[in-house]
Amino acid sequence: MSRVVVEGRDIVRDYHMTGGLFRPARTVHAVKGVSFKVEQGKTLAIVGESGCGKSTLARIITMIDPATSGELFIDGNKVDIAQKALTPEMRRKVQIVFQNPYGSLNPRQKIGDVLAEPLLINTDVGADERQARAMAMLKKVGLEEKHYNRYPHMFSGGQRQRIAIARALMLNPSLLVLDEPVSALDLSVQAQVLNLLADLQDEFRLTYVFISHDLSVVRYIADDVMVMYYGEAVEYGPREEVFANPGHDYTKVLFAATPRADVESIRARLAKKRAA
Ligand SMILES: Nc1ncnc2c1ncn2[C@@H]1O[C@H](COP(=O)(O)OP(=O)(O)OP(=O)(O)O)[C@@H](O)[C@H]1O
Ligand SMILES: [Mg+2]
Repeated sequence: MSRVVVEGRDIVRDYHMTGGLFRPARTVHAVKGVSFKVEQGKTLAIVGESGCGKSTLARIITMIDPATSGELFIDGNKVDIAQKALTPEMRRKVQIVFQNPYGSLNPRQKIGDVLAEPLLINTDVGADERQARAMAMLKKVGLEEKHYNRYPHMFSGGQRQRIAIARALMLNPSLLVLDEPVSALDLSVQAQVLNLLADLQDEFRLTYVFISHDLSVVRYIADDVMVMYYGEAVEYGPREEVFANPGHDYTKVLFAATPRADVESIRARLAKKRAA
């Protein structure tokens, strides 16, 4: 039995919206009691249509946003769900990568500094060592030494996503939450970034919570799959089981709308790239 890296029990998130002149006050129930568990080295994929609560759950797991109720455990330690007393050690265990890395990269900061910054802020590692580690991580994500002194605008979308992944890994997190990390990329670039994520997962025994609306991507990357629908997990289990026996009507419709060929072609492409 492997170590459980992240566990959520009955996670709830309500947003209370104050009213306006023509708008009554109301409560949005974004996440309605979701439970899950991910072991080290595994990937839980979360799918579902826009607005079903995926990013809300991602922000709760990443401890960016508090939950309304429920329990969250990271590496066996209970997280204060209202997040009044989170330690830096707790925070650095979980890192997040967003769909659009450009939004989170400072345009005036060189890539080397982007990568070294988490070490500067969170550790007492010296300047030379920071640079060495940033350089090493640059290579790990498939970039080159010469990229160290370049600025974000000098990179392609795929390269920027590699940078965001590299930065997320600088503090040796246990868990990476990836919120639609390849959705903005061209298909061929998607495949490369997915391959990179798979390789990094193997090398560092990383645990992923991977959010996507693309079932072919989910099929490729996931060990377990959760399908969310209006804030609820209507489907949750090992990938093959969920794909073979969708229980909920919503999932049946969702799966029926996704051509199987998609999956085969993305697999074939990835296999070819791996062989090369
Ligand atoms: N800060 C907020 N304040 C009020 N309502 C919010 C807030 N954030 C999210 N919501 C609402 O909560 C629900 C879930 O939103 P969420 O962003 O988690 O969906 P999502 O599944 O990530 O969607 P998408 O696929 O479009 O990214 C939506 O109804 C959304 O409008
Ligand atoms: Mg979202």
